[in-house]
Amino acid sequence: MHSRHLTHPSRRAAIQRLMWPGLAALGTPLAQAQVALGGGAPVQPTPGVAHKPIHSSGELLPVVGLGSWITFNVGDDTVARAACTEVMRAFFAAGGRMIDSSPMYGSSQAVIGQGLATLGASAPVFSADKVWISSGARGPRQIEESRQHWRVPRFDLLQVHNLLAWEDHLPQLLAMKAAGRLRYVGITTSEGRRHRDLEAIMRSQPIDFVQLSYSLLDRDVEARLLPLARERRIAVIVNRPFRRGELLEALARRPLPPWAAAMGCNTWAAFALKFVVSHPDVTCAIPATRQVAHVRENLAVARGVMPDAATRQRMAAYVASL
Ligand SMILES: NC(=O)c1ccc[n+]([C@@H]2O[C@H](COP(=O)([O-])OP(=O)(O)OC[C@H]3O[C@@H](n4cnc5c(N)ncnc54)[C@H](OP(=O)(O)O)[C@@H]3O)[C@@H](O)[C@H]2O)c1
Repeated sequence: MHSRHLTHPSRRAAIQRLMWPGLAALGTPLAQAQVALGGGAPVQPTPGVAHKPIHSSGELLPVVGLGSWITFNVGDDTVARAACTEVMRAFFAAGGRMIDSSPMYGSSQAVIGQGLATLGASAPVFSADKVWISSGARGPRQIEESRQHWRVPRFDLLQVHNLLAWEDHLPQLLAMKAAGRLRYVGITTSEGRRHRDLEAIMRSQPIDFVQLSYSLLDRDVEARLLPLARERRIAVIVNRPFRRGELLEALARRPLPPWAAAMGCNTWAAFALKFVVSHPDVTCAIPATRQVAHVRENLAVARGVMPDAATRQRMAAYVASL
């Protein structure tokens, strides 16, 4: 793989020391590193955008990605599809790479595929999709249909969605990876579901990624799952960083603390997202949006100062006190 040189432990450790915390935001250490594209050639990371490594390879990912549940499920509406393409255009232009979807998300996969085809070479996507079917035997067919919707030669990451039939799907995904038809394997949950089962899988299975919910008000994963991910060298994708928008609606009536501006946070969305992506064991978050202004705001969180551990505690305590 192109990133093989990054997998050498000493080089990987060196990159990790350089990447986080703080220096990643400056962009300078990234000049020698590479980010891979979905089935394509590696590109240089965007200077100034914070990246973190996928532990199993050393490959770097921007800390803010893009979700697609509901927001991109717009059916055949041509105006809405064009709007989704504009969100993707702004996402890539701001240095975004990972887009997450699932066969569960209605037309979202096809909407992403249309966007990628429209944007062409200006869409250096890291494609993250899922297998979501109770029959293990029907998994490969679902994956192939998903790939055709996305119009990519292969997925970068396939995840078992919500642990559904994971005992059947995981060996198939690992076999695809071994055969070079997939780059990374993962598993997902959300909203705190089945954390004990997820923990057992993280302990026993050779997965590259885990996806789970984490936010200013959903911090259970800090106790066991995030430390375990660090110990097992599993990259962490955070879904629902805004609790599907409910967190931001609740906070909208409250004042931001005056010290938030020092971290470049002038909105609650920036504050909430910065809290999530600055956790040392979180690789990236995948907020979903239909709005170009919001995707730009979310990607801006990957730039500039990141809060340290004490400031992160202060952020959580402030929100808990409201
Ligand atoms: N089990 C699983 O595998 C699983 C479960 C849940 C989610 N996921 C993945 O995680 C992704 C994210 O989770 P989610 O979509 O549930 O919720 P979310 O990202 O926490 O919230 C999405 C909502 O936040 C709003 N928003 C986004 N950026 C904003 C900003 N800068 N300012 C104000 N509002 C903003 C969006 O509205 P606007 O459109 O108005 O911006 C949207 O309604 C999903 O799309 C999906 O890809 C996976």
